[in-house]
Amino acid sequence: MKEPVAEILEHDVSSTVAVAGHPIHAMLVVFPIALVLGTLACDVFYWWSADPFWARVALWAAGSGFWLGLLAALAGLAELLLVRGIRIRVASWSHAVAAMMLLSIAGLNWGWRLHDAEAAILPVGLALSALGSFFVALAGWHGGKLVFDHGIGTMVSTSD
Ligand code: HEM
Repeated sequence: MKEPVAEILEHDVSSTVAVAGHPIHAMLVVFPIALVLGTLACDVFYWWSADPFWARVALWAAGSGFWLGLLAALAGLAELLLVRGIRIRVASWSHAVAAMMLLSIAGLNWGWRLHDAEAAILPVGLALSALGSFFVALAGWHGGKLVFDHGIGTMVSTSD
């Protein structure tokens, strides 16, 4: 019988949801990462300055971070379900769980602000932004592990 690790290693981990071999998920994740962290920065600026401008920017950052995160997650989910070498790794599922936690918090953070973007910030909005930033770091770090430790989505060029 084959060693379980050897069996895992023999499966292909190339990206299928990709443009010319470049994974679409990796191209999209930069948006939720920047926007979720940006929401926290706007909340802190609002707390510091009481300028309603920052509350409006935070509302847009929270909403676009959530929707673009959902789009990125769809590409990631397709990879997870379609590629056997990705699907059979525990690390892929850990990343997906952290990402779903992040998306739930990001969605809540946006919905919470829709009625009154200014009143929503202190203290609940700020706390949600801090929690979202923690989970974006966790999901992003786990995503990086998939690529750099497991070689998921990478391709070795034979051109030179
Ligand atoms: C259901 C949700 C998700 C699933 C199933 C998923 C799955 C994956 C997979 C399979 C990879 C390996 C690269 C690839 O094949 O494209 C990956 C990489 C990555 N993911 Fe996700 N992902 C999800 C959501 C997210 C979200 C919302 C974020 C935003 C923080 C994120 C951040 C990353 C990062 C930073 C990488 C490394 C990309 C690189 O440096 O090339 N993922 N993810």
